[in-house]
Amino acid sequence: MGQDDRIRTFIHGFDEKLGGGIPEGQIVLLAGEPGTMKSTIGFNILYQNALREGKAGTYISLEQGRDNLSRHLEQMSLSPHDVESKVSIVDLGMIRRNLDGMADRTWLEIFKMYATNLKRTLNYEILVVDSLPVLEVMARFENPREDLFQLCEWIRDLHATTILITEMKPNSEDFGKHGEEYLCDGIIHAKMERVDDANIQRRIRCVKMRGTNHSPNYFTLMFQNGILQATRIIAE
Ligand SMILES: Nc1ncnc2c1ncn2[C@@H]1O[C@H](COP(=O)(O)OP(=O)(O)O)[C@@H](O)[C@H]1O
Ligand SMILES: [Mg+2]
Repeated sequence: MGQDDRIRTFIHGFDEKLGGGIPEGQIVLLAGEPGTMKSTIGFNILYQNALREGKAGTYISLEQGRDNLSRHLEQMSLSPHDVESKVSIVDLGMIRRNLDGMADRTWLEIFKMYATNLKRTLNYEILVVDSLPVLEVMARFENPREDLFQLCEWIRDLHATTILITEMKPNSEDFGKHGEEYLCDGIIHAKMERVDDANIQRRIRCVKMRGTNHSPNYFTLMFQNGILQATRIIAE
């Protein structure tokens, strides 16, 4: 790991605004309201890094079942089949439902077990967790701030660049409830913006990224032919 090695997001036009991408090993919140393409952006990072850089990745889904997620990704020309030797999708909800004797294991233990085992077998460099709030709820944190701090420390020890997807309420600027915005190294915010009576556009911005001279501005986020793109907002 070099001093300034970065993981590209492969959102065209956005990596340049981040000084090339996310610094390796960092934990980044990817926060936004429903429909802002968080899951797509998260998987796109794994997909493109696998295809273009040969980097292994893991996507742990707590929210959306594997079939549902795969169908969505195929529709977006990001088929999990294209990268199946490099990218593992873990359907944590299904695993917990199906495994005998797992009933009283906590979600957090199951999460850690899969994250550790895949680190050992696949040696992924990038981890996406979809989503952090669901993990927090399912893990039944007793002292949320303390438990979240411990979880972040645990994730850091995986030595993988980690994207923690976070669901936000529309129009909220709250990135987390238990200090997530301080614990994480970076925050990328995706939102819907009403541009006039009839039109809504998707927007994306880097709120924070440690060790990076990034643009704090919003860009228009577009998706076309399997490519995510961030472009400058043209003032009306
Ligand atoms: N083929 C497509 N082309 C462009 N956008 C699509 C396509 N299929 C679905 N979408 C959009 O993707 C959105 C869902 O993306 P997703 O990554 O699941 O968002 P989030 O995880 O933030 O809720 C849908 O609301 C829909 O507008
Ligand atoms: Mg999602």
